[in-house]
Amino acid sequence: METKTDILNIEKIRKDFPILSREVNGKPLIYLDSGASSQKPQQVIDVISHYYEHEHSNIHRGIHTLSQEATTAYEDSRKTVQAFINAKHDHEVIFTAGTTESINLVASSFGKKFLEKGDEIIISTMEHHSNIVPWQMICEEKGAILKVVPINDKGEFLMEEFEQLLSKKTKLVAITHISNTLGTINPVKEIIVKAHQNGTLVLIDGAQAVPHKKVDVQDLDCDFYAFSGHKMFGPTGVGILYGKESILNDLPPYQGGGDMIKTVTFEKTTYNCLPHKLEAGTPNIVGGIGLAAAINYMNAIGIDKIEAYEHELLIYATEQIKQIEGVRIVGEAANKASVLSFLVEGTHPSDIGMIIDKLGIAIRTGHHCTEPLMNRFEILGTARASFAFYNTIEEIDIFITALKKAIKMLV
Ligand code: ALA
Repeated sequence: METKTDILNIEKIRKDFPILSREVNGKPLIYLDSGASSQKPQQVIDVISHYYEHEHSNIHRGIHTLSQEATTAYEDSRKTVQAFINAKHDHEVIFTAGTTESINLVASSFGKKFLEKGDEIIISTMEHHSNIVPWQMICEEKGAILKVVPINDKGEFLMEEFEQLLSKKTKLVAITHISNTLGTINPVKEIIVKAHQNGTLVLIDGAQAVPHKKVDVQDLDCDFYAFSGHKMFGPTGVGILYGKESILNDLPPYQGGGDMIKTVTFEKTTYNCLPHKLEAGTPNIVGGIGLAAAINYMNAIGIDKIEAYEHELLIYATEQIKQIEGVRIVGEAANKASVLSFLVEGTHPSDIGMIIDKLGIAIRTGHHCTEPLMNRFEILGTARASFAFYNTIEEIDIFITALKKAIKMLV
């Protein structure tokens, strides 16, 4: 397969992903929907099968060998995540069901204890529904107020407006690292510095960042960082909430049940230490182990190489799509990653999506769980191609040809 760049051994990488060799509608699959969910390498699939074939048992509960082996595998996975994001302690890594649950956990636990009537939470216009709705819910419950940082027409975060919104009332800032719809890479380090100068904690939604770039939570100095396994080549149903030890220690438990307790009597229950206090019930054991396998896979390729390669793909795709008459790119930030959202004059995104699906090409169409962002641009939705390191320049060429064909049919 021809590529413009030799940063990665793309032929070898593609062979690791069995699904990439299947056909869809009689054509070789071209998967440009990794922003919604990435595909899984054989190495991750094998680890999952191996776990169920040889190691499965419940964790943290058994004296028997299998339980101890499963516990070790799960806790080693936590250490793998810790190293991947450079957390100071492994107990700062909380396993959740995904980004959505990670954010709900903070909104619920932090909100219940620390939010009061009249307090404010700041988000931005480009947030995913999962970084909007949990804050709306807790604000409603506590009488707090949700403030929204505007963006410019390119889809860039407006720092000055953000600074103006910060006040003594601001209890938390929750911002996406990379927009799933626009691809904008937000200046999160600067946002965190400014919020901290104001004495405000910061949660970063990293769902779209972690699969594409190196994330170092200590360097960022974020208070919380949330992401999902399934967008980073791991299984669905598992995700991470990173939080600074002192802050997580201050949070009340999110859910009650097994594993999160120290002692239980009918009169009083005392809670376990981190991370268990925030992980009630039998967790997604194989999810955690599969996520660690995905991290090992990404590390073996090299995150910096992944970032550089995907940058080439995005630049190339952007150049190509710009040459098509009637195409409008939605999201033209100077700093972008892995996402190309667009509209074609005189067509509906879902018609484009359906026609090119017949040619074996998977893209996402619609509002991408960012309805307020669509309202900002006064559109109903976009067509979105999103890339991963297993995509190629040749696939982009086929996508562009298919797009031209679809436009010819529709306009
Ligand atoms: N948040 C996912 C997306 O952007 C589902 O498609």
